[in-house]
Amino acid sequence: MSHVAGFLGAGQKPSRRLSDAQSYWSAEAAPGWTENSHWRSGLGETNWEDVGKEHLAMFEQFARALEVSTHPDVVIDWGCGGGANAVVFAPITKRKYIAADVSGESVMECVRQVRAVCDTPTGQSIIDIAEPGRTVEKLKTQCDLFLCTYVLELTADRDEALRILRLAERLLVSGGMAFIQVKYHTADWRTRGYKRNYRRNLSNMTTFGIEEFWIASAACGLMPKLITLVPRNSLDSRYAYYALVKP
Ligand SMILES: C[S@@+](CC[C@H](N)C(=O)[O-])C[C@H]1O[C@@H](n2cnc3c(N)ncnc32)[C@H](O)[C@@H]1O
Repeated sequence: MSHVAGFLGAGQKPSRRLSDAQSYWSAEAAPGWTENSHWRSGLGETNWEDVGKEHLAMFEQFARALEVSTHPDVVIDWGCGGGANAVVFAPITKRKYIAADVSGESVMECVRQVRAVCDTPTGQSIIDIAEPGRTVEKLKTQCDLFLCTYVLELTADRDEALRILRLAERLLVSGGMAFIQVKYHTADWRTRGYKRNYRRNLSNMTTFGIEEFWIASAACGLMPKLITLVPRNSLDSRYAYYALVKP
């Protein structure tokens, strides 16, 4: 019954979902937390390594096609979790790799994992989930690559997801790329974001139509250039990856 209510749009208020998200990600002892945060210990070695390898291969394909450097100067990993992306993206980063997450524990774990594989200087940023703009102001830096995977589906709603895109636009240099993954919905209404019971449905909270996100990105000031769909992988299903470029 609760799922049906969620599907039909009778979800909880976005403010309630946001506060549930805040309390979930800040309590490391919560059930499934290390797995949901993509820590090496929670996801398991193979899945954890595959996340980074697959994303790096996709990024390099996008970058070559768009004639953007495959060795960015500064990277921000927004929602870095346990560093599955960081261990492959930090070694190709020339100047600085910034680990940003709503969880301070994950930021520290991400940096630990980076230090185990390379000497790329790191930055650390704890995102205020309710006021992420403040985090961006404090960063006082710009990046060539804004990396955000397995995060937008966890946001409280479409507005929160798009707010992150607008922050990406602020953080990127002109010509820089946002490499963004979203969970997409199809014509089947059951694939839409659930909008309630954050803990139970966190990875299905916010979904986009494939074209909807393309158009919304442009409205946030990022030009959508390329897309790759992954209908299913070993973790979940219905993922769309976008290469968005700041004009
Ligand atoms: C599934 S993990 C993904 C980690 C990494 N990006 C990856 O692809 O392996 C989700 C991470 O997003 C963080 N997160 C959740 N909501 C967020 C938000 N609104 N903004 C930024 N990070 C968020 C969580 O703390 C968690 O570390």
